[in-house]
Amino acid sequence: MIRSRTVVVVGALAAAGFLVSPVVRSQVAGAAPDSAPCADPSGRPWCDRGLSAERRAEALVAALTGEEKKALLAGDDLVGPLRAADDPKYRAGTVHGVPRLGIPELYLVDAGSMGVKQGPNTALASGLSLAATFDPQAVRQAGALVADEAVHHGNDVVLGPAVDLMRTARSGRAFEAYGEDPLLTSRMGASWIGSVQARGLIAQVKHFPANNQEANRYSVNAVVSERALREVYLPPFEAAVREAKVGSVMCGYNLVNGLPSCSNTPLLDGVLRKQWGFTGFVVSDWMRGVKSTDGSMKAGLDLEMPVGVQYSPPALGSALENGKITWTDVDARLRARFRTLFAFGVFDRARPVNDGRIDYTAHGRTAQQLSEQGITLLKNTSGVLPLKAGTKIAVIGKPAAQVRSAVGSAYVKPVSSITPLKALTTRAVAKNVTYRDGTDVAAAVKAARAAKAAVVFVADARAEDADVTCLTLRCGDGKLGDQDALVTAVAKANPNTVVVMQTGGPVLTPWAGKVRGIVESWYAGGPGGTAIARVLFGDVDPGGRLPVTFPAAEKQAPASGNASQYPGVGDTVRYSEELLVGYRHYDAKGYVPAFPFGYGLSYTSFKFTSLKVSRTGVSVTVTNTGRRRGYAVPQLYLGLPSSKAVPEPAWQLRGFSKVALAPGASARVTFPLDARALSYWNTSSHSWQRAKGCAKVMVGSSSRSVALTGSLC
Ligand code: BGC
Repeated sequence: MIRSRTVVVVGALAAAGFLVSPVVRSQVAGAAPDSAPCADPSGRPWCDRGLSAERRAEALVAALTGEEKKALLAGDDLVGPLRAADDPKYRAGTVHGVPRLGIPELYLVDAGSMGVKQGPNTALASGLSLAATFDPQAVRQAGALVADEAVHHGNDVVLGPAVDLMRTARSGRAFEAYGEDPLLTSRMGASWIGSVQARGLIAQVKHFPANNQEANRYSVNAVVSERALREVYLPPFEAAVREAKVGSVMCGYNLVNGLPSCSNTPLLDGVLRKQWGFTGFVVSDWMRGVKSTDGSMKAGLDLEMPVGVQYSPPALGSALENGKITWTDVDARLRARFRTLFAFGVFDRARPVNDGRIDYTAHGRTAQQLSEQGITLLKNTSGVLPLKAGTKIAVIGKPAAQVRSAVGSAYVKPVSSITPLKALTTRAVAKNVTYRDGTDVAAAVKAARAAKAAVVFVADARAEDADVTCLTLRCGDGKLGDQDALVTAVAKANPNTVVVMQTGGPVLTPWAGKVRGIVESWYAGGPGGTAIARVLFGDVDPGGRLPVTFPAAEKQAPASGNASQYPGVGDTVRYSEELLVGYRHYDAKGYVPAFPFGYGLSYTSFKFTSLKVSRTGVSVTVTNTGRRRGYAVPQLYLGLPSSKAVPEPAWQLRGFSKVALAPGASARVTFPLDARALSYWNTSSHSWQRAKGCAKVMVGSSSRSVALTGSLC
């Protein structure tokens, strides 16, 4: 995708001499080193593998000239990110090297839950779909797949995962991250990072922090309390740093409590480095992320991308001259990056482009299975699903004949794809399928009437840099027409109507009571058509559960109708709902959502028994009481003791598990509890404190379906 905002500034930057650094570039962008930069260590003490990464970084920084240092603090390529997404030379950014010292050029690529954005690659389902798997093991598989493609394309750093919480259901980037719950997002993010970094790549968790809307995204100031930050928005980053040892962090475009994220000393230096012990490097979001030279330098921003503006050699030169920054600051920033590069072996290995080695066929199969694991069955009455072989079906709606995805830096051009229509036609046998795109509603109704079941495909349209303007399907892709009216008309014509939604976030389902089946397939990825067909025909149990609440009406949605909370007044957005994000909001208001967080049906049924609660964990037995093999996703919610001084949400997710069970089979599931699970952030002592009193314990199959309760005192 070419973003016009970037194009505008290219000319100005080139004219000012910012694009090509004064230090010669080691390689042409797109060519990664064929031999290890430290293959010949003679005269290069930083190549001594016997030294720690810190010592090697110190030695390297000591060998740099002042001009080289200034030039190394920013990226050097705007051309890569300006290419189209399907151009194999697309790259989010590069940072030049220094050939005289054997410093390699660094390659950064947009790669997250949806795959690697660098020419056609495996297009996985969206981050929300991955979150819907409720399965860290599935996330590890997705991470390994992405890492394999990123490595073979010659990259060093992947710009993912996004772990921003979905605070408003209108968020244009809701599709990209892992939903509305801090624990689920933390678990998913940490698993993804772990598998990507196991392959030697540096993951870059983003967008630190409180980056929760696209409206006014370059200058919005999130005013958020210390407690909400610690309990809601920071945990996924904390897990990335403390558990997954993420190598890099991207600071967002937004401001937090009046300070730009990329020069936010309390958060970047105080929380990230000093409290969490982050030793990696901090990178700015692309263009406009950095708002000041000295502010960012002092706060701990290590690299400006995609090119230097605040960190251009002239800007750095004048800040040094007038004493706003010192060479000690510059060295600290460089050391952070080089320390990480040494720790991840960037100097000690070759990373040639080897894309011919990518096994796209195997990756396609994995992507399809992962998509199946995320597909969420929301309604299934009168046994309308799974569809039986030989059933005559009318497939309706333009999205049936499309591969839906979102627009933005996460978009991946699929190396291969199959539409749901094609996959259904293959699975159901062509003679049993009629297709109408829905433009002519009467024709669609006629086809539905003539079939045993009607499957209507609907979709929304989410994009980076723009939130959706409302939650109805009418606010989605204008080219799709009035999808709500189409569903209603078809449902009237055929009682066995099933709606398949391909959305990047919650949408309203005003027709839910009129149809027998509802399936949320999310943006299902290149092989998603096959995944959808397999779930509809019951070849596989729908594995997904909702990582976001679907409201029954727009006015139920968090921050809805309160401009100060969203989209903000002027540049200010007040997070005055405090901890009441996602399902916590619906619980506090007593709203009955259309579909609650954690909800999703299986083709079989489960029973939860034998709840055991102890200080170290909660355990429960899950039994498949139906006649098919299926996936159960037992969830543990705690209600911590609430008081006026320390109000608590009614319920908070504290554990989840996913088990595949054959008919009649049981499994004992344990949710371990650590001190954090029973604690709140004390804003007087600025630390976690164990809540006094008894916590309510609830185990069930969603945030609203209570199977067993207990208490923990
Ligand atoms: C996005 C980042 C992305 C970067 C590079 C920015 O606009 O916010 O998430 O990694 O572009 O494409």
